[in-house]
Amino acid sequence: MNNEVVTFFDTTLRDGEQTPNVSLTSEQKLTIAKALDKLGVDVIEAGFPVSSKGEYSAVKSIVKADLATTVCGLARVVKPDIDACLDAGVGLIHVFASTSDVQLKYSMKKTRQEVYDLSVDAVEYVKEHGTKCLFSAMDATRTEPEFLDRVCRGVESAGVDIINIPDTVGIMAPSRMFNFIKRIKGVVEVPIDVHCHNDFGLAVANSLSAIEAGAHQVQVTVNGIGERAGNADLAQTAMGLSSIFGAKLNINTQFLLETSRLVERFTKINIPPTMPIVGENAFSHESGIHSRGVIERADTFEPGIMTPEMVGQRRRLVAGKHAGKHAVREMLKDARFDVTEEELARIMDRIKEIGDQGRRVTDVDLYTIAEAITNEVLTPTILLEELSVMTGNRITPTATVKAVVDGTMKIGARIGTGPVDAAINAVHDVLGGTDVQLRTFRIDAITGGTDALADVVIGVEDSDGNMVTARAARGDIVIASVEAMISAINRLKARDGA
Ligand code: KIV
Ligand code: ZN
Repeated sequence: MNNEVVTFFDTTLRDGEQTPNVSLTSEQKLTIAKALDKLGVDVIEAGFPVSSKGEYSAVKSIVKADLATTVCGLARVVKPDIDACLDAGVGLIHVFASTSDVQLKYSMKKTRQEVYDLSVDAVEYVKEHGTKCLFSAMDATRTEPEFLDRVCRGVESAGVDIINIPDTVGIMAPSRMFNFIKRIKGVVEVPIDVHCHNDFGLAVANSLSAIEAGAHQVQVTVNGIGERAGNADLAQTAMGLSSIFGAKLNINTQFLLETSRLVERFTKINIPPTMPIVGENAFSHESGIHSRGVIERADTFEPGIMTPEMVGQRRRLVAGKHAGKHAVREMLKDARFDVTEEELARIMDRIKEIGDQGRRVTDVDLYTIAEAITNEVLTPTILLEELSVMTGNRITPTATVKAVVDGTMKIGARIGTGPVDAAINAVHDVLGGTDVQLRTFRIDAITGGTDALADVVIGVEDSDGNMVTARAARGDIVIASVEAMISAINRLKARDGA
C-alpha cells in the first residue's frame, strides 16, 4: 500500500438508492449528503440526473448546498445523460458502459467496437466541457482482459481523470482482486477506483485487496446498501483500511455511527445487531470471561486498534445467562445500585434462571431484580395514568397519553404512522420533548392466535449514548410498547439523575 491518501467515493445516493424497496426524498438525500460531507467522504455520487425530474433536482440541490466534497452525477455514454449532469452543475461526471460480452450482447446490445467508440467519445465530450470525468468499465471483472485493456487505454487517451473497475456481480475474491488491479496498474497510468458488490460477502475484503494492489479510491455505501446484496460498506472499508493497514483517509471516523443510523432511518433497512462497527453488539460483551477481561483492559477482547470511541460507539456490558459477577456488579454500579456479595449472588441466580428459560435479560429486568433483592425502589420520572389510541382505515392514527411527570399531571397527544408510533410519540409529547430516542424495537407473539401476548423489547438511548433495554408483555401491542418505553425512560432518567 502506498503512502497516499485513499479517497472515498460514496454512492449511497445512487447505487444505494437502487436497493430493492428503497427510495429517498429530495430532502432526505440532501440531509444524507450533508452527513457524508461532515463524515469527510471525498466524492458523493448524488444520483443519475437524466433518469427523472426529481432525480435531476435532487442532484442540483446537493450541488447548490456548496459542500466541501465533490458532487458527482452518473451518465451512460450518451450526450443527453452527460448534458443532464452538466446542467445540474456537478463537479465530476461518472460515465459508464458495459464491457463484458454477456452484458454487451444481452444488456447494451452493442458490439465491442461500438462500446469502445461510445466510451471514448463520451469521455472526450465531458472533457471538452472542462469537467472531471470518471469512467466505469461495467462488469470489468468478467471482461475479456485484452478488450478491457483496450478500453482503459482508449479512455485514458481521451483524457479521463480516473478509471473505475467495477466487480459488478461480486464474483471476485481478495487474491484475485489483488492480481487484477496489479495488472491494470501496468496498463494505464491514471488513478484506479474500485466498486465491489457483495454477492459473496466479499465486497469489503476485495476493496481492501484492490487498495493493497495500488488502487487509489474505493466506492462504498453507508450500511453497505445497494443492488442485490449491496456494495462495500463504508464503515468497514474505512476502519479496515485505517486500523488494519494504517492507510491515510479523509474520513472523520467518529461520525460513522451517526451517519449509519441516519441512513438506517431513512432507508428503513435495519442494521443487524452483529453488523461490524455500527451494530448494537459491535462493542457489547456478555460472557463472563470477556466482560471481566474488558473491564480490566479493553483490548483483551476487542481489536484495540479500533475502539468504540473511534467510530462514535460506546462499550456495553450486557446481562444474560453467560454473564459473570464482575460485569453484573459493574452494570449495577453504573445504575447506582450498591449490592453486597450475598445480594449479587442472588441477582446472578435470577439472571441465569431467566436466561435458561430462553429469554433475553433486559437492563430493566436486571434493575427490577436488583430492586426486589435490595429493597431500593426507584422513583419513576413518568407514571402512566391513561392511554387511548384511535386508528382505522380512514383516519390518521392518533394517541393521547395522560401521565404524572415529575409529580405533575401532563397530557400529550400525537399522530403517527400507526397506533404504536402514535402512542410512542405521545409519550415524547408528555415529556415535553426529550433527548431520549428509541433505538431498537422488537415485538414477538408469545402464544399463537389473535389473542397472543405481545412481548415487546425496546432499547432507548439518551444524547450521551447511554442505552437501556426494557420489556413488557401484554395482550395489547400498543400498551406493551408504551409500558416498555416508559420503564426504559424511567431507568435512563434514574441513572442520569443519580
Ligand atoms: O455495479 C456497477 O457496475 C455499477 C456501475 C454503474 C459502476 O454500479
Ligand atoms: Zn454497482
